[in-house]
Amino acid sequence: MRRKVIAGNWKMNMLPNETIQFIEDLAPLVKDTEHEVILCVPYTDLFYALLTAQNTNIKIGAQNMHFAESGAYTGEVSGKMLKSINVEYVIIGHSERRQYFNETDETVNKKVKAAFEYALKPIVCVGETLEQREAGKVEEIITNQTKLALDGLTNEQVENTIIAYEPIWAIGTGKTATKEDANDAVKAIRKKIAEIYGQNVADGVIIQYGGSVKSSNAKELFSMSDIDGALVGGASLKADEFSKIVEFEK
Ligand code: 13P
Repeated sequence: MRRKVIAGNWKMNMLPNETIQFIEDLAPLVKDTEHEVILCVPYTDLFYALLTAQNTNIKIGAQNMHFAESGAYTGEVSGKMLKSINVEYVIIGHSERRQYFNETDETVNKKVKAAFEYALKPIVCVGETLEQREAGKVEEIITNQTKLALDGLTNEQVENTIIAYEPIWAIGTGKTATKEDANDAVKAIRKKIAEIYGQNVADGVIIQYGGSVKSSNAKELFSMSDIDGALVGGASLKADEFSKIVEFEK
């Protein structure tokens, strides 16, 4: 049985004082969960988040990184820098970064490789636009994004990658994919990983769903065969609501 991983993506929200308060509020609410809980916070909150989350079961991630170790890349943050303060996870290739910051399948792949160089665990995002869905291209798009993101990784690295299937039309829109559509997409991703890296590897990879996940729909999504948790945007900004997603069985 794969574990469930529930990760919050705060995007460009929350100040350090709000971060500390949030984690102090969340920690007692999720302390007994058997699921993995991750918060991916802005760079300016990372240090505060890591300190506040010490001695809790909440893990901390960043939302992006550069693929180079250091150098003349004004405004960027490297995997080495993230590792130096003990960040554990990093989101790579979120659709907002692909859309607004020229992230490509090639840079996603470079960043995933760089993440492993610094022992960071990548959460790699893939997903189709509404146009692509309507053209019947979901499987083609997301399996290709997955293949390119993971290109050149070892089996062990693939096993330690979290994939987040996030249909772009479902992000921040209140429209969630049906549980069947979400599960079919996640299954297609798993099948592609099996083709390239073998069934054993594919069976172990955590594949999340993301896109308007909230406490009222988490349980039905997480009851599906292949959905191993969620990457949560808006609903991860309130500790109480986010805790209910983590504790979806209750
Ligand atoms: P929402 O949950 O706000 O739709 O955002 C999803 C997302 O982009 C998480 O990475």
